[in-house]
Amino acid sequence: MKSKMITGLLFLLGTIIFLFTKVSPANTPQLFALASYCPPGFVLTPQNQCLSRNLYQMYSSLQKSGVGGLKSALPKARDGFTPQQIDLGRYLFFDPVLSKDASLSCASCHQPARGFTDGLPVSVGINHTVLTRSAPSVWNVAYLKSFFWDARASSLEEQMKGPLYAEDEMATTPGLLLATLNGIDAYKQMFEEAFPMRKGPDILENEIYTAIAAFESSLISLNSRYDRYAHGYKDALTSKELEGLNVFRSFVARCAECHTPPLFTNRQIAVIGTPEPPGNEFDAGTEKTYNDPTMRGGFKIPSLRNIEKTAPYMHSGRFPTLRETVEFYTKGRGHAVPKNEKLILHWHIWEPQLSDYEVDRLVDFLKTLTGESFMPQIPDIVPSGLQLSNQSKVNSEINQTNNEKRN
Ligand code: HEC
Ligand code: HEC
Repeated sequence: MKSKMITGLLFLLGTIIFLFTKVSPANTPQLFALASYCPPGFVLTPQNQCLSRNLYQMYSSLQKSGVGGLKSALPKARDGFTPQQIDLGRYLFFDPVLSKDASLSCASCHQPARGFTDGLPVSVGINHTVLTRSAPSVWNVAYLKSFFWDARASSLEEQMKGPLYAEDEMATTPGLLLATLNGIDAYKQMFEEAFPMRKGPDILENEIYTAIAAFESSLISLNSRYDRYAHGYKDALTSKELEGLNVFRSFVARCAECHTPPLFTNRQIAVIGTPEPPGNEFDAGTEKTYNDPTMRGGFKIPSLRNIEKTAPYMHSGRFPTLRETVEFYTKGRGHAVPKNEKLILHWHIWEPQLSDYEVDRLVDFLKTLTGESFMPQIPDIVPSGLQLSNQSKVNSEINQTNNEKRN
C-alpha cells in the first residue's frame, strides 16, 4: 500500500517535472516577456496605448507650444505606442545584432550613462571608422520635428535608416536585418506580441522602425531641478543657479531666444558659426539639406536637457567642456568663422560681453537641467544572445588618443 503511494507520488512528480521542462525550454519565452505597463511618465489607455503625462501639459498657451516663459506648454509629443512596442524597442536599441558584423548597437553611440551620447567629439562607426559629427542625445526626441544636426530627416523612422544602413555606421541592409531578426525565435515571438494584428508569421521592416521609435519616444526628461523650480518650488535652485537662469533669459545673452524653455530648443535652425576642429573641412550643415546658400553653416538648435552629461559639445564636438561652449557666445559675433566663408549669422548671435562671473553662472544653471529619473532599464541580456556592446571601452581608448592629439 505504502509503496504504491510512493510510486504514485513519484509518477506525479515526474509528470510535473516533464511538463515544466516542456513549457519552459532553455530559451524561455518568459525571459523576454514584454512589459504590459507603460514606462514612468505615461498613462495606459483602455486601448493599450501609452500617453505622455506631465505638468507642462497643464499650462495652456495660444500657440500650443509656448513662448518661453517658465510656465509655457510643451509642443505635442510623439506618443500612443503600446507598452509592448516600447519594450521591444528597448531590446532592439541595445542589441548589436542590428549591425552587419554584430559589433554596434544604437546604444554604442547613444549610451544611457552619457546622456545617450558617446563621449566622443565625433562618433565612430563600423570597423572603427571615424565619422564627421558628434552623436546628439536622444532624450526628448519625442518632441522634435526634424532630426540630425542638419535637420535632414523629418521622423524618427526616417532618421534611424541613416545609421542602420550607412556603410560606415551599422552597415546592414533591410534584407539582412529582416533575415537576421526572423532567424531569432525570441524576436519572432516578441514582434508577434507587439504587433498582434499582423497576418503572416514574419517580422516586417516597418515593425522594426515602429518599435525603436516607440522606445525613443519614451525617453522623457522633464524632471530636473529646473522643472521643479518652474512648477513653483522656489528652493529647487540655489541663488547662483538662479543668477544663471536670469542671464540665460536676458536679452543680453539671448540664450533662451533659441534654447527656449521648457524644451530648451525652439526646434528651429540657426547659423551661429561654431568652429571645426583644426584641420577639419568646413561643415555646410543645413545648406545641403535645403539646397539654400543662405543656410550655409546652419545647424539644428539642440535641446540643452542633460547637457552636463553629453560632452564634448557642438556638431563637431569641438568644445570639451560646458564652460568653453558657453564662452564661445561671448567671444564676438562670427569670431570663429573661417576667413573665406561669408555666413549669414542669426541676429540673436551678438556681442553680449559676459563677464567671467556670468559665464560661470550660466554653467551652474545649465547643470540644473539634468533629469534622469525616467532612465529606462538597460537589459542584462538581449534576444540575440550577443554581449552588450563594449563600445564604451573602445570609446575611452579613442578619447585618450584624441586628447593626446589635442594637447
Ligand atoms: C556609430 C555611432 C551611431 C550609431 C550606431 C547610431 N547613431 Fe544615432 N547618431 C549618431 C550621430 C553621429 C548622429 C548625428 C549625425 C548627423 O547629424 O549627421 C546621430 C543622430 C541620431 C538621432 C538624431 C537626434 C537629433 O536630435 O537630431 C537619433 C534620433 C538617433 N541618432 C538615433 C539612433 C538610433 C535609433 C540608432 C540605432 C538604429 C542609432 N542612432 C545608431 C551616431 C550613431
Ligand atoms: C541664434 C540661436 C542661438 C542662440 C542665441 C544661442 N544658441 Fe546655443 N546653440 C545654437 C545652435 C544652432 C547650436 C549648435 C551649433 C553647432 O553645433 O555648430 C547651439 C549649441 C549650444 C550648446 C551645445 C549643445 C550640444 O548638444 O552640443 C550649448 C551648451 C549652448 N548652445 C548654449 C547656449 C548658451 C548658454 C547661449 C547663450 C549665451 C546660447 N546657446 C545661445 C543656437 C543658439
